[in-house]
Amino acid sequence: MWQCCRASCGESARPPDTPFGADAAPPTPSTATTSILSVLDPAPMTDLRLALYQPDIPQNTGTLLRTAACLGLAVDLIEPAGFAVTDRNLRRAGMDYLDAAVMTRHVGWTAFEAQRRASGRRLVLLTTRGTTSHLDFAFRDGDVIMVGRESVGVPDEVHAAADARLVVPMRPGMRSLNVAVAAVVVLGEALRRTGGFPPLDPALRGDTR
Ligand SMILES: C[S@@+](CC[C@H](N)C(=O)[O-])C[C@H]1O[C@@H](n2cnc3c(N)ncnc32)[C@H](O)[C@@H]1O
Repeated sequence: MWQCCRASCGESARPPDTPFGADAAPPTPSTATTSILSVLDPAPMTDLRLALYQPDIPQNTGTLLRTAACLGLAVDLIEPAGFAVTDRNLRRAGMDYLDAAVMTRHVGWTAFEAQRRASGRRLVLLTTRGTTSHLDFAFRDGDVIMVGRESVGVPDEVHAAADARLVVPMRPGMRSLNVAVAAVVVLGEALRRTGGFPPLDPALRGDTR
């Protein structure tokens, strides 16, 4: 089951958030954002966020939602996406991990950017057009790490709005990484630098499998 809370609805007390449901589609964001939070997620969250700019491929988005759920990152999904943002489409790759995903849907770039600026967070864009290696960047808590569309990256307006434009260095002649792979490479570095990885689960210690 999905529950929606629009930033513009004016309610001070939000209803309890619920996980992704098996059947329902998330509500279409009409004015500002909708939030989906899981009551099943007591784990600590880093203050880094992952933003997906108009993703084209549901499997990649599902993979990234699963990754974010495991690592404790909230996700901003900037629409329109190249597919219907439904539980069914995302669950193929995200599986039951989507139950622990924390995602805010934004109707578009302008709505996302207004919220991001108001929050004072830096926008850190991952782009093959970047001139700074992700290894040379001083990540900070609160940074929003954004990836572009699989097909065309991001438009110039978004490129220009970023506080930093980072590239994962590749061998000469290679065009790009898969979007989820690029995100994971950089998130790993950002989490390591900010001490944001979740603590090792004591239940896993001694597990030799
Ligand atoms: C498949 S790539 C997009 C390729 C697109 N033709 C372009 O020129 O941006 C999808 C997204 O993955 C990320 N990406 C892929 N490889 C990257 C790299 N080496 N460094 C930084 N970001 C990368 C970027 O966010 C990019 O927008």
